[in-house]
Amino acid sequence: MVSRSKPIVLGIESTCDETGVAIVEGGELLSSVVASSMDMHARYGGVIPEIASRAHAEAFLPVVKQALEDADLDFSNISTVAVSCGPGLAGCLAVGAAGAKGLAYGANKTLYGVNHVIAHAAVTKLQFGPVPSGSLALIVSGGHTSLLQINNMTSSVKVIGTTLDDAAGECFDKIARLLGFPYPGGPYIDRYAQQGDPHALKFPEALTQGRSAAAHPYDFSFSGVKTAVARYIETQQAEGNEINVPDVCASLAFCVADVLSRKAIKACQDLNASTLIVGGGFSANTQLRQQLKEKGEKAGIEVRIPRPALCTDNGAMIAILGEMCVLDKIPPTRMNFSPNSTMALDQVVL
Ligand code: KG4
Ligand code: ZN
Repeated sequence: MVSRSKPIVLGIESTCDETGVAIVEGGELLSSVVASSMDMHARYGGVIPEIASRAHAEAFLPVVKQALEDADLDFSNISTVAVSCGPGLAGCLAVGAAGAKGLAYGANKTLYGVNHVIAHAAVTKLQFGPVPSGSLALIVSGGHTSLLQINNMTSSVKVIGTTLDDAAGECFDKIARLLGFPYPGGPYIDRYAQQGDPHALKFPEALTQGRSAAAHPYDFSFSGVKTAVARYIETQQAEGNEINVPDVCASLAFCVADVLSRKAIKACQDLNASTLIVGGGFSANTQLRQQLKEKGEKAGIEVRIPRPALCTDNGAMIAILGEMCVLDKIPPTRMNFSPNSTMALDQVVL
């Protein structure tokens, strides 16, 4: 067996409907395997926690084995196990945590229980290198829309903005359902939007003007746009009009991407951040990526958006955050930890 000088970290992700396992060594991704239970939820229109938990239990060992095989390693080579321990669905987190504890305890490895949302920011290191201190992170997913100030990825993360109601992905998924797309509908809206006119319909951009914007400079609210689009669809249907689906999708995507990118870039200017890192499943969205890049270029802010496979839930994000914890000498998580489905976003490690 070749001896290796750097920590080799196996990361486990199981917060929602993806069982992800990946291995990282020296800031390099050696393997990443994701099994998704998404198709099992499609007919219910959203993730059913019990079905997702069972799917994690079934996928866990095969995905771990595949990740080791792809990296050409066996478990004895692994020095540290990292697992996402919140926020997320309680049953899903319990499966990942139990599996991680079993592996770490059984083979006497160090264990870190890390924050899933912060891991979405940490994963950018794999593609772009270390995150400069003081960078801002925009994390947009099915469950979160957050602006974080990253002073130190493992020890000092501050929440500067959040959604007051629906997350961006949640808003897209709900509208997609009304348009008859299967779950998760975000990627369908993205695809149809490519053929539509983003200015065909005007939807409300909440918390961007006047007193509400002053009171919530970095917060978001997407329930207003969701309701406006839903009303538009219902009215057209009631009047027997044909709905121009590409125009609805393009106008919705424009509105959400405009608010997210404007507020994120403004926050960078206000807080003197020269780098904006972006993560979470919704950051795969074409309009958001375009608008962030355009506005970032104009403002002289470097925008780091990882490739789509690193944006959606995966084990690599957990492994790289675990590796940062080892390198920063963060005390490991106790073996008897309980995952926290409502883990605060400024808590990096349990
Ligand atoms: O981060 P993620 O994989 O899981 C959560 O932690 O929620 O994000 C999933 C969300 C879903 O709402 C999905 O519809 C959305 O990301 N999404 C997209 C796109 N790809 C994924 N939304 C818009 N455009 C996309 N291309
Ligand atoms: Zn996520």
